[in-house]
Amino acid sequence: MLAVPVAAGAQRPRRGDQAARLKGPGFSAKRIARRALGRAAQVTPTTWDHDPAVEARVDAIVAQMTTAEKADLATGQLNNFYGFYNNPIARLGIPAQTMSDGPVGVRIANPTVDRRSTEFPSATAMAASFDTGLVHDVGQAIGFEAFHTGHNVQLAPSVDVARTPLWGRAFEGFGEDPLLNGLMGAQYIEGVQANPGVIATIKHFVAYDQETNRFTLSAQIDDRTMHEVYDKPFEIAVQQAHPGAAMCAFNKVNGSFACENALLNTLLKGEDGFRGFVMSDYNATPSTINAANNGLDQEQPGDQGPGTANFGDRLVAAVEAGQVSMARLDDMARRILRPMVGLGLFDHPVQSDRFDEGAHAQLARRVAQEGMVLLKNERNLLPLRPEALHTLAVIGPDADNASAKGGGSSEISRPTSEVSPLDGIRNRAGSGVTVTYAAGTDGINEGDMLPGDAPVPSTVLRSTGGAPGDRGLHAQYWGNTGFSGAPVLDEIDPNVNVNFGFQTFQGFNAASPKATQSQAAVGNFALFGDLSARWTGNLIAADTADYPLGLTARGDATLQFDGEPLVEHTGDLSSVTKAVHLVAGEPHAIRIDYSATPPNQYQGGQVRFSWSHRDDVMAPAMRDAVADARAADAAVVVVRDYETEGFDRATLDLPKEQDQLIRKVAEANPDTVVVIETGAPSKTSTWDGNVPAILQAWYPGQQQGDAIADVLFGDVNPSGRLVATVPRDESQVPAIATGDTAPHDEGVFVGYRGLQQRGDTPAYPFGFGLSYSTFGYRRLRVDDGRPNAPQGDIPVSFRLRNTSVRPGAEVAQVYIGRLPTRDVPTPPRQLAGFERVQLAPGERQDVTITIPRRSLSYWDTGSQHWVTPAGRVPVYVGGSSEDVELAGTITVR
Ligand code: BGC
Repeated sequence: MLAVPVAAGAQRPRRGDQAARLKGPGFSAKRIARRALGRAAQVTPTTWDHDPAVEARVDAIVAQMTTAEKADLATGQLNNFYGFYNNPIARLGIPAQTMSDGPVGVRIANPTVDRRSTEFPSATAMAASFDTGLVHDVGQAIGFEAFHTGHNVQLAPSVDVARTPLWGRAFEGFGEDPLLNGLMGAQYIEGVQANPGVIATIKHFVAYDQETNRFTLSAQIDDRTMHEVYDKPFEIAVQQAHPGAAMCAFNKVNGSFACENALLNTLLKGEDGFRGFVMSDYNATPSTINAANNGLDQEQPGDQGPGTANFGDRLVAAVEAGQVSMARLDDMARRILRPMVGLGLFDHPVQSDRFDEGAHAQLARRVAQEGMVLLKNERNLLPLRPEALHTLAVIGPDADNASAKGGGSSEISRPTSEVSPLDGIRNRAGSGVTVTYAAGTDGINEGDMLPGDAPVPSTVLRSTGGAPGDRGLHAQYWGNTGFSGAPVLDEIDPNVNVNFGFQTFQGFNAASPKATQSQAAVGNFALFGDLSARWTGNLIAADTADYPLGLTARGDATLQFDGEPLVEHTGDLSSVTKAVHLVAGEPHAIRIDYSATPPNQYQGGQVRFSWSHRDDVMAPAMRDAVADARAADAAVVVVRDYETEGFDRATLDLPKEQDQLIRKVAEANPDTVVVIETGAPSKTSTWDGNVPAILQAWYPGQQQGDAIADVLFGDVNPSGRLVATVPRDESQVPAIATGDTAPHDEGVFVGYRGLQQRGDTPAYPFGFGLSYSTFGYRRLRVDDGRPNAPQGDIPVSFRLRNTSVRPGAEVAQVYIGRLPTRDVPTPPRQLAGFERVQLAPGERQDVTITIPRRSLSYWDTGSQHWVTPAGRVPVYVGGSSEDVELAGTITVR
């Protein structure tokens, strides 16, 4: 049975027979055990941090180190444009630290290395499986790939609580619940560190939950919320899985930068008991003395040329001046060396040999299958039956490629293989079904994160002097703000929809292969340099109507319409529109001139040429898709967005008029299935009413097409659950802060806790997900007789039954209700435990989920202790945060 431990030594979750499931090299349990023994007698990935033999070996090394060598260990060296790295110290036999990014796979640090890695589904998908053993397997596979592509430190997992789905990096974490983040993070870490010679890095400490102003913003959080929400995943994962490294965040917390924040010492290393090393995020070391004294152990990337490091020589000087004590410098060295010794980096030099790509691809497919959440299935439209279909219309801007994934530092640029949704569906449907494909809209790209109306689609744009079949506008780009000299790029762009900056950095590319290519080509100068651009051509509407045309831009932009200025924009990112009346088929000359204001750090040019219109107005590409849907027996619309590090989402709408596409396809074909490829929830409420079947697929990784087909055709019975609430609209989630501070005024009422506190009903609640099977719950038993026993964990038991004729898995969830106290307000429901139970048709199983005493406690800021109030605590068991199948009480004595 799954326990929910919060303390070291508590019962560990079941892992299943992962060695048997994964046949790739390194997955033999025996082999791992043998290698672990080679590490040092008795030392294990969860005991390395308090092992006398490890301490002795570390002390012996530290005793031989000079001050300069200790400071060197505390200071990274950028070994190429991408990777975190730390030089070896050959004299002492200390190996280099070679780091690769995660968490969805190994981001191979050196772009010149000809190696591929497995692109797993987003961490939201991993968590949505509610399968702790599976997440362990993923961590193990990723750690294995890291080691065998030359890395010994994996910069993952991310356990940042997704306070809002608008956060650009919500897809990298395990959702909105702190317990789920902690338990999944722990499994991931244990998996990574099951590979001798590999350190996992838990990140980003702490309260990193938006991209906007992330280098300057201060998250304002009260002490109780810090303990109960934002630190909780770190506490659980540190105590259960003992990661060798932690990464502090870019942002400030209550006014002080995370990488020089007192919380590193008091909370992470103090209360949580972390004994590895804290490294900074990229250039997130704000100081020398403060950072060192407040607990930062390693600056990354560190030394990027003379005078660039805050540690390095400055740290040596601070030690010599007595501003940082030698004891603290020794502690830094000891904390870095402890996991290097204890987790086997000295004894297991990294390899650059092969791993079993096929086995890992199958694992990626399984994660995608188990993570998919069936949100709706009216009339049992799913699973699709090929024998009842003649024609199936697959629709969606990127359904014919596998580019739907998260961007930024986590992005896997060279997956080992890829299967598009269209190919997956075609392969599975078989030769008896005619599968048609229509895009419906242009491909999705970075520009789709900008606010404002949708980009004018390519099918109503014609470039000047282009070939008859050309769609889009003629584009010219200059590497200066004044259109001077020869353009550096001259091309046809499907839309004017540019969002340069961090997310277009060379190698980060989760954009559609059909979207404008200029993004990658000019990425570097657009990121760091000046930019001006001009687009020319004709706009030819397909419907006679009024169209507000507009510009969304940062900087100076003008739109000329038939030779006359129509819209002008200056200043910061905003939108301006003006309506024109267009007659179907009549061409109008368009010219857009754009000059970016000098770029901020990691922010290049941003401009979009937009339109809006009545709902019955459709661009030709959308009309074609609707015609396909009308002619088919059923339609599958695969929609996606663009989420990335470096930028937040402006809204929860789907970009490029995909919401309208869904509405129109569903009007044309009542048997329409929507597959949503977004890393975090998007809004369904503008189209949900007409659509009978919806599958939340998250970013489903490199095998996405196979996994989508597996679920659509019923080869896999869906069992994933929402790890974040699908809100009705943006008013139900915290907005992205735009100033210097992000007040976290909702306190502990994050995600579903807040909605339930306010009595607000979302579109789909946390924990929700349908199956092709049905399940029954009976006989709740709460064994609270001994709640004051040392651990105080309380077993909650019930009987679960598969009441259908299909094998399927239920994710049984236990929530506890409000705590019996008047001292603080507590959430109406909080996840306290769960178990994914696989059941044959008609099968019954007795399930016991152990509730840790900590789940019955709140953090008392006055006494600085966890308080467990005596009294009766409601306990709810069911299939989601709002589905109560069984209710009882726990009596805390
Ligand atoms: C990200 C980290 C990442 C680091 C190294 C930063 O931009 O915030 O998550 O590990 O880059 O690539």
